[in-house]
Amino acid sequence: MSILKVAKLGNPILREIAKPIPLERIKSPEVQQLIQDMIETMREYEGVGLAAPQVHRPLQIFMIESMERSGKEDGKTTPLMVLINPVLTIISENLYEDWEGCLSVPDLRGLVPRYRQIKVQAYDLSGRVIDFEAEDFLARVIQHEHDHLMGKVFFDRMRSFDSLSYLQEFVRYWQKEQKDSG
Ligand code: NI
Repeated sequence: MSILKVAKLGNPILREIAKPIPLERIKSPEVQQLIQDMIETMREYEGVGLAAPQVHRPLQIFMIESMERSGKEDGKTTPLMVLINPVLTIISENLYEDWEGCLSVPDLRGLVPRYRQIKVQAYDLSGRVIDFEAEDFLARVIQHEHDHLMGKVFFDRMRSFDSLSYLQEFVRYWQKEQKDSG
């Protein structure tokens, strides 16, 4: 396995539309190797998700995983999930804002509106069909990663840039405010 280089904002690969993977190619050594390398890369950089265009491969693959890591005690734990050729359907038009960051836009945080409830259909890394409903944090991460497959980053979804913050300022001004307000 190897840790892959992560494309940063400004790299045109992040603005490309990713291509679907033919079902018969999911189990190929190339695709399986890419998936394993992406998992290792996501863990190395402590991302909660990673999409293939972020590692310079314009393919419809992303994975998410949220573990209890040092300093994060918000209980948002999601086991590793690999999604290939995902299709999202909005269940409720209800949008809500929360903070997001991105390995391709390092050290920045912003408030991003996302749908609270979605339906997800995709293949897993074995080529099996998966079909489930996601809400809140999980739905948010899936929408963020799915955006990468469509050449979008979280800036594109923000209603305003008033909340856009460097990590240090986010911790100092915004996270503090959140804590104070309970
Ligand atoms: Ni991202």
